[in-house]
Amino acid sequence: MQAVQDSPVPDFVKNLQRVNTYEEVREIMTSRDFVMAGAAERTIFFEDTLIMSEGDRHNELKQLFAPLMSRQAIAYYELHLIEPVIRKVIEEIKGQPTADGFIRLDAVELVQIALTRISAYVTGVDDIDTPERTERFRQLVMQLSVATTGSFSKEPVERVLDKGRRAMTDLVDEFLRASLQRRIDLASRHHSGEIAADQLPRDVMMSLCLKNDLSRPDDGEKIPYVWRQSALFLTASIKTTSHALPHVFFHLDEWIKEHPEDRAKLTDVEFLHKVAAESFRLHQTSPARFRAAVRDVVLSTGRKVAKGEMVALHAPPANVQTEVFGDDARFFNPYRKTPQGIQPWGMTFGLGIHSCLGLNLVTGIRNTSDEKHGTHGTAVRIAKALYDLGAELDADNPWKRADRTLHDYFESMPMILRNA
Ligand code: HEM
Repeated sequence: MQAVQDSPVPDFVKNLQRVNTYEEVREIMTSRDFVMAGAAERTIFFEDTLIMSEGDRHNELKQLFAPLMSRQAIAYYELHLIEPVIRKVIEEIKGQPTADGFIRLDAVELVQIALTRISAYVTGVDDIDTPERTERFRQLVMQLSVATTGSFSKEPVERVLDKGRRAMTDLVDEFLRASLQRRIDLASRHHSGEIAADQLPRDVMMSLCLKNDLSRPDDGEKIPYVWRQSALFLTASIKTTSHALPHVFFHLDEWIKEHPEDRAKLTDVEFLHKVAAESFRLHQTSPARFRAAVRDVVLSTGRKVAKGEMVALHAPPANVQTEVFGDDARFFNPYRKTPQGIQPWGMTFGLGIHSCLGLNLVTGIRNTSDEKHGTHGTAVRIAKALYDLGAELDADNPWKRADRTLHDYFESMPMILRNA
């Protein structure tokens, strides 16, 4: 089994204070003395959205969007959205059996398409249902996603940002504007008493319409506010999950080779919850996150951060720190016991007020399949759907890692479905 290595970081990160222990990263992320920060693309695409706001404004937005990730909402999505979407996408992409009689598919493509449809629904983008519309929408969102973390691309950042701006314009023209207009009309019919609240769609754009929080005075000079909020939810959900989930299949493949006695557990949802959480711990969405100090600060470790200074939080090495996760912290072990107060995925979904709003959608409520309290989440549902069909990595067509980026993800992961 291979040990997980630290990802390289772009040059601008090397000029910032490097914070890479679990304790210090946690202290900063949960401190009121620090605010969200980052390279210029964060402002271009996400200014004034949930992730880039602080204090009362952040609370207000969190309350607005929290119902979209409530227990009731997740239970509804699981039954009516996630499960049917996964089944439909597998049918669409699996193609014909190859000469050996087996069906093959690319797990990266599967996760991206499924997440594209699920996230379009949660964001409030209508009619992402045919293969053609899904494909066009997926390509645009992925292009936009690369731009929202442009500093981590190996292409020149200005070129990446330009492509991202163009993708945003096309997304608005081809998909978002019509969906928003439909919701503006629904909100006005709701306010006039014609439509009850429970008849309205439950999504990000509808929530913004009902609150009448749709524009900013400087919208003419920037990517308009309402599209920035939509961009946040689309990129925060599709890119992250598509990057994270193939690592689960990779680690599980290695684990089963070394622990064949666990093969029978591939369709056991409790085991898959553990597997997914441990894999999430080992791979984060970004090699570094950023926070700026709002005043001169001295951390409990004695580290000094000046007012206005931006620090780089190297969360991936913190998540494999041996003092916290044990001597084998850089290795995959689904039976790992994490210390009390630390989630099995460490800080992969963030910590403090900006921690991931979509966590329940990914891991299920409480990361358990317990019928009474838990739900599965997209990760376990997709993994279970594949392993139910006898999925294995395709030894004849090896996976390929992404190489035009500093982000840690697979570009393709061919699988054979032995029971499809
Ligand atoms: C494997 C999948 C995912 C991972 C690893 C992940 C990770 C994260 C992390 C680390 C943060 C905090 C960033 C920071 O503090 O700098 C975050 C925030 C956020 N995530 Fe996720 N995320 C995932 C999926 C999703 C999904 C599916 C959604 C939406 C449906 C989502 C929506 C958000 C939003 C809106 C925020 C900002 C929250 C705030 O600032 O209050 N994420 N996520």
